[in-house]
Amino acid sequence: MGYPRISKVAIGWTLALATVIFWQSSTAAQEPAETQDPVVTPATGKKAESAALKAFALSKSVYVGATKCKSCHNKEVKGLIYDKWSKLGHAKSIEVLTSEKGLAVAKELGIKKPAEAPECLKCHVTAFGEKKERLHKRFKPNLGVQCESCHGPGSQHVKVRLAAAKVEKVPEEVLQEIPADEAPLPDQLLCLSCHNEESPTYKKFDFGERLEKIRHLHPQREKPRVLPPKKKKVDVIEG
Ligand code: HEC
Ligand code: HEC
Ligand code: HEC
Ligand code: HEC
Repeated sequence: MGYPRISKVAIGWTLALATVIFWQSSTAAQEPAETQDPVVTPATGKKAESAALKAFALSKSVYVGATKCKSCHNKEVKGLIYDKWSKLGHAKSIEVLTSEKGLAVAKELGIKKPAEAPECLKCHVTAFGEKKERLHKRFKPNLGVQCESCHGPGSQHVKVRLAAAKVEKVPEEVLQEIPADEAPLPDQLLCLSCHNEESPTYKKFDFGERLEKIRHLHPQREKPRVLPPKKKKVDVIEG
């Protein structure tokens, strides 16, 4: 008794089918980005228009909180970034909710405890609406609009920089270049995700002007990298 004979026709069909399946799976992987699920921002559930917010949503990092960033970014030679941040409104955005004005604004909207109300916290803290798994156990939301609201969840960046410092001792005053997606820089659309008309105390947001108030360049950095879009020149046609 021999093995059953497999006909050449059957082999031919099997190969043809396998080719079709392979072709389909390889073209599925090349679908244009628009037909894939849009990346949404956690706080609002809206489609993330900002490139920086998209990067945050896709990042595998978790939110660690501003005190973690302070250990490396609060040295004189690094521009005292933490101190600069802590003196401005973003670091005080919880206190402002329980200030006289905050309570009055909330009362008008029928909200008794604004510092606990999602209607206010969604723009007054970092990582509002994020899943628990994305928050480090020591992350404190009561520090307001922290570093990671603008630079994304930072756990991977911290891990990579700690590991790098062990391998090579770079003098502290040297400005190191790191990959752009490790700690992304914000764009105008990211600011507008909070600075918009949904805010009960909305003031017109001029990106260029506001940017100058919060900017914290490294002392060795010659030119800022985030700038407002250039205004288009209008050609004057004479005649
Ligand atoms: C272990 C030290 C360390 C910690 C902690 C740390 N950083 Fe950094 N970070 C660096 C170094 C080194 C650079 C490279 C620039 C430099 O030399 O200052 C950098 C650069 C950056 C940049 C600039 C990225 C670019 O494209 O140039 C951002 C933004 C940043 N860090 C944000 C953060 C935030 C937010 C946190 C807290 C979640 C944080 N860092 C914590 C060491 C650290
Ligand atoms: C997560 C929400 C959020 C994001 C993102 C955000 N802001 Fe704000 N911003 C606030 C809140 C809330 C306040 C008011 C805080 C207060 O009054 O204490 C504020 C206040 C400010 C102020 C006034 C600060 C002061 O001390 O007078 C400036 C300037 C500002 N933001 C600029 C920006 C810029 C530029 C960006 C983008 C690069 C940005 N913000 C992104 C929520 C945000
Ligand atoms: C859509 C985002 C957003 C929401 C929601 C929001 N805020 Fe704000 N809030 C902001 C921003 C941004 C600022 C900074 C305003 C500016 O400088 O343009 C701010 C500033 C403030 C200020 C300071 C205003 C001043 O002129 O000193 C108070 C008070 C305040 N918010 C209270 C509240 C209360 C109370 C709630 C909830 C009922 C709330 N906010 C909900 C974004 C928001
Ligand atoms: C409201 C948004 C916002 C917040 C909050 C914020 N940053 Fe930034 N950060 C920016 C912007 C915008 C730039 C880009 C500046 C430029 O080059 O024009 C920047 C740049 C940086 C850089 C690079 C500086 C350089 O020139 O190389 C570092 C490092 C950094 N931020 C760290 C931090 C840390 C640490 C905190 C918290 C203590 C923080 N940032 C909070 C918006 C923010």
